Amino acid sequence: MVLSLLLVCISFSMLLLIQKKMNKKKNLPPGEMGFPWIGEMMQFYRAQLANRLYEDFVQPRIIKHGNIFKTRLMGEPTVVVSGSTANRFFLSNEFKLVVSSWPSASVQLMGKDCIMAKDGDRHRWLRSAFASCLTGPALENLIPKLCGAVEAHLDLHWGEKETVFLFNSVKVLMFSVVLECLFGIEAEQSLLDLFEKVLSGVFALPLDLPGCRFWKAKRARVKIGKALVCMVRERKEEIERRGRGRRGGEEGGLLLSLLVGGLIEGEISEEEVVDNVVLLVFAAHDTTAFAIAMMCRMLGCHPDCYARLLQEHLEISGSKRRGEKLTWEDIQKMEYTWQVSRESMRLFPPIFGSFRRAVVDIDYQGFIIPKGWKVLWTTYGTHYNPQYFQEPLTFDPSRFEDPVTPYAFIPFGGGPRLCVGYQLAKLNILIFIHFMVTRYEWSLIDPQEPIIMDPLPIPSHGMPIKITQKIL
Ligand code: HEM
Repeated sequence: MVLSLLLVCISFSMLLLIQKKMNKKKNLPPGEMGFPWIGEMMQFYRAQLANRLYEDFVQPRIIKHGNIFKTRLMGEPTVVVSGSTANRFFLSNEFKLVVSSWPSASVQLMGKDCIMAKDGDRHRWLRSAFASCLTGPALENLIPKLCGAVEAHLDLHWGEKETVFLFNSVKVLMFSVVLECLFGIEAEQSLLDLFEKVLSGVFALPLDLPGCRFWKAKRARVKIGKALVCMVRERKEEIERRGRGRRGGEEGGLLLSLLVGGLIEGEISEEEVVDNVVLLVFAAHDTTAFAIAMMCRMLGCHPDCYARLLQEHLEISGSKRRGEKLTWEDIQKMEYTWQVSRESMRLFPPIFGSFRRAVVDIDYQGFIIPKGWKVLWTTYGTHYNPQYFQEPLTFDPSRFEDPVTPYAFIPFGGGPRLCVGYQLAKLNILIFIHFMVTRYEWSLIDPQEPIIMDPLPIPSHGMPIKITQKIL
């Protein structure tokens, strides 16, 4: 008995030694792999729950090992990379050296046919469809609709109230902006509730057991899928009835019409249309709401910056007739506001980072990242680096007066997967801030309100603010 135990121990130690030697031979990046399978997942989850992924997980390892280190997350060997050079290398080599690799729960809930799970021709087709609605003249044409949506939202939900929950309110607004302006779908509260349930399971363990987060999220996703299938079929019939082909039905949401046009022409499947509507709603509403909320938090804490921003908007509204809508030219004048927004997203990026998978053995700065390993790039790892941003913890919008090092500021990612809704997000942020500051006096109730990750960062109490309507 003692002998066999001894033998097991010796073989185990030898295996570990061989593994270590092989790793050294391969020159893997430095770092700890933790226990088999579990790896450093507990430390990662704990830090994520406290919204301290950077401070408690990434930063200590950068200090110990440098800008590239290995670990094991969700059962997979993973290399975490930081810094503009690494960002450029990994983000721009999408499809060549790495491919997007989301956790299994995310893919199952967003849908296996959504853009983030696609590469090659399918990715190209979807991206060009999205880009044709989210950039250029199509985006400019959305401005009156976006202004109308913000004004109607403020009239209905803010009115003459004394307190509103800014984050919650903007989230509802962004949800309806995406559904109504891009897809022509009415944004009912019941649909938003279903989306919330799905979101809560996106980074959960993919356990399909009754009562588990993922199980609940999956059920909500099935309901959303069914509702969307009906809408897609209705839109298809409508377009076919009108006989206007691919470009028809624009008044009912250009993007849905484009996708359904692709369906009619056999270019994409019904599942692809549904999965991509779901993905776009997720990609757009929480992220933009968090960006606006953190921008207001920073403005509330920096009255000098607020005064300058307000002046910018008063000059724009002062140059317009009563009731006249904002134009593309007005948006271009909101330069300082966009600096404030970028600086807020630098300090509080709505997306922590995202995963890739190496499709070949990658040789990066003398280290080997073996084929099949995951790569995690993070926004914080670069946004908080004094090499790119002096005194990185100081809020200073003027640092964006000059161009920043490419790939050092990456709230929208980069390379072939750069956020395709970046321009729409910018428009939504600028337009919302314009109407908020010109129509309301406002102040923060709790400037230190904790931020929690659930699973994306959110202000823990929905960010209550005091408001008073201005007399216009
Ligand atoms: C402040 C708001 C937003 C932030 C911070 C943000 C951030 C990001 C980031 C970091 C990525 C890259 C993910 C990766 O590399 O794996 C991304 C991708 C994407 N975003 Fe956004 N996003 C925002 C708003 C939007 C909006 C408004 C839309 C559309 C209506 C949108 C649609 C997408 C899509 C479709 C992708 C996937 C692109 C692809 O895989 O080719 N996002 N976003």
